[in-house]
Amino acid sequence: MTQAVLHQLPATWSEFVQRLGNTPLIPLEVRFGTRRCEVLLKQEEHNPLGSIKDRTAYGLVLDAEARRAGRGPLTVVESTSGNLGGALAAACALRGHTFIAVVDPKMSAENLALMRQYGGCIELVTDADETGNYLNARIARVRQIRARLPWVHWTNQYANPANPRVHYRMTGPELAQQVNGSIDAAFVAVSTGGTLSGVGRYLHERLPGTRVVAVDADGSIALGGTAGPRRLTGIGANRRSTLVTAADYDEIRRPGDATAVATCRWLASQTGLRVGGSSGFVVAACLKYIAAHHEARRVVCLCPDGGIKYADTVYDDGWLAAKVIDPRPAYGWLSAFDVA
Ligand SMILES: Cc1ncc(COP(=O)(O)O)c(C=O)c1O
Repeated sequence: MTQAVLHQLPATWSEFVQRLGNTPLIPLEVRFGTRRCEVLLKQEEHNPLGSIKDRTAYGLVLDAEARRAGRGPLTVVESTSGNLGGALAAACALRGHTFIAVVDPKMSAENLALMRQYGGCIELVTDADETGNYLNARIARVRQIRARLPWVHWTNQYANPANPRVHYRMTGPELAQQVNGSIDAAFVAVSTGGTLSGVGRYLHERLPGTRVVAVDADGSIALGGTAGPRRLTGIGANRRSTLVTAADYDEIRRPGDATAVATCRWLASQTGLRVGGSSGFVVAACLKYIAAHHEARRVVCLCPDGGIKYADTVYDDGWLAAKVIDPRPAYGWLSAFDVA
């Protein structure tokens, strides 16, 4: 199997829309003892800018335009430490809008480069809270900008119903159509909760036998729990999601940072597929589920992005040592699984 999706950047809005979604579902046969389970990896890195957030950006930009109908180009602001920044910068530029990204030092070099490429204005905050997170500082900066420039439109990915709506209308139906039948469980990572809310609600309505498993990181309180330091980017949040309701999912799994990293590397060694850090959480949660559920035959892992942006983190031994993340103990557990 080959990997490394290299992104040819969309040059027009119609190219962006045309290349959005319809991401591939890669089937793996996972063996655990004498059992077999079909694991379908939905690879969101095949979106035009490389992640599931391209869909969110599309939904947020169309929502911004609908709210300000007929008033010409917009200036959009958003707080982002990850993939939404690059995606929204592209979507805004391709629609003729100005984009201000409020970012923090955890932003990856790739996403910063994407934002610059599409002419996004970058506002960097550097005040972390006591858990090392910057979300509150980013939101405070957005509010300051809007106090000074009240015409600026805040897409507000953490509270805007347009975020889950695009996943309910696009990601969920696409997934249901691709699996073409029943699945035992779907594993969905959480940050704002937009994907989980939209996809989870759709699957519960249309494929009611599917168990929707929310996957979160250590230290995240997106779905409750206790706030703490978060070492991997993309997954989790240090505020409770207002987009997700209890009816959108059936259970929460938190496989842990070291297990997620080990799973990324294990998957690469078994299949050649390099997934992003949050996909490591998703696949780890899925493997634990398979081990505990003898009846599981067919499941889906929604993989938010690919490994290309994580070469200096998840796939770098020096970074892991600096963050005191030791994947080695998890390899013993992973050795009980085989992939064909
Ligand atoms: C890289 C990445 N993008 C997007 C998402 C989904 O985020 P949201 O809950 O904001 O839809 C995740 C979730 O963990 C993620 O890891």
